Amino acid sequence: MIPSAYAATLLGDDPGLRTIVIVGGSGFVGRKLATELARRTEPVRCGVRSPKGQTKVSPEGVVEQQADIRDYNSLVALFRGATSVVNLATTTRQINPQTFHDTFFRGTHNLVAAMRAAGVRRLIHVGVVATDRYRRDPRFPYLYWKQRATDLVCASGLDYTVFETSLIFGRGDQLLTAVALALKALPVVPIAGHLAAHTRFQPVSVQDVVYCLAQSLDDRTTIGRCYSLTGPEAYEFIDLARIVDAFLGTKRRIVIVPPWPVRLLLRAGSALMRRPPITTEMLDLAGIDSCCDSRLTYEHFGLYPRCVADSLDYLRSVGAQDFRAWMWGSLRGQAGSSLWE
Ligand SMILES: NC(=O)c1ccc[n+]([C@@H]2O[C@H](COP(=O)([O-])OP(=O)(O)OC[C@H]3O[C@@H](n4cnc5c(N)ncnc54)[C@H](OP(=O)(O)O)[C@@H]3O)[C@@H](O)[C@H]2O)c1
Repeated sequence: MIPSAYAATLLGDDPGLRTIVIVGGSGFVGRKLATELARRTEPVRCGVRSPKGQTKVSPEGVVEQQADIRDYNSLVALFRGATSVVNLATTTRQINPQTFHDTFFRGTHNLVAAMRAAGVRRLIHVGVVATDRYRRDPRFPYLYWKQRATDLVCASGLDYTVFETSLIFGRGDQLLTAVALALKALPVVPIAGHLAAHTRFQPVSVQDVVYCLAQSLDDRTTIGRCYSLTGPEAYEFIDLARIVDAFLGTKRRIVIVPPWPVRLLLRAGSALMRRPPITTEMLDLAGIDSCCDSRLTYEHFGLYPRCVADSLDYLRSVGAQDFRAWMWGSLRGQAGSSLWE
């Protein structure tokens, strides 16, 4: 339990202390950023949609408060007394009543307006890497509304910094954990079509992402800038799966199958699971590479980015608990609070 006096400072009642609010704080990146900032003894307030299931595992120093990015009033309350906001709210599926337009565009519109109303100026916003050809094309609603949200941030007049990332890996990720689980559980691992198999990613470590987000909070020279944040090497998805297979020693056959049966499976998974690791909406992005040169970002932050092939130890412990977490959306199935680390 957090002592009430300390909790009051965390909630921003002490004007001498700064408070960082993370919207999407219960997610993969949000949990790790919250833990890192709390470790630096920064007061952290996480906006979470349903705090009930998460509270027991959040680390000391992190206060949770209910907020939904689609609900302006909940954001104004969340930002009260804060000094900075980090926006990590996202979703990878459109499920009634939550669409990409709602979460990314209307949500970011609410967030900017609520920051103004609460008198908070500093905003760190995270988007995705893709070429303009795709993210300006409404036929790809995930990328389109992500980009429109970033446009809103850049036009907000706030002290913003934007990071655009490729696939993020690390303990608690979705895609590589799903690949590892499939390799462990299935005799043959299917990839949905040639487009998906040959889509290129530049995986970036979640520790490197958290490091840059945390550094930028203190670095005013990052204000008004947009940084690409990708890993040092590009891989086709099928090669990533082969790297994981070699690392785990599972020696499975990885085969490219027609997309439609996988699509049916993903649709069923999306209906049954609270946090499905892969969705049909992500499959719709097959063939769209997520790569770019991030050397200027490495230089600015003094970052020596981790290479995915050297950083896969966390996949050894992937197992039934991860499946349960996708199924029930709870982090409590995981060993202790380790997913926050
Ligand atoms: N992970 C990757 O590979 C990757 C790749 C490229 C870019 N990114 C970007 O990195 C950022 C963080 O991603 P992540 O991997 O941490 O995502 P994540 O694990 O899916 O977490 C998303 C967070 O957003 C919250 N959220 C969803 N809908 C919300 C709403 N209506 N109101 C408030 N919160 C809401 C979720 O809350 P609930 O727990 O209630 O669902 C969760 O805390 C995102 O901007 C994402 O686009 C990630």
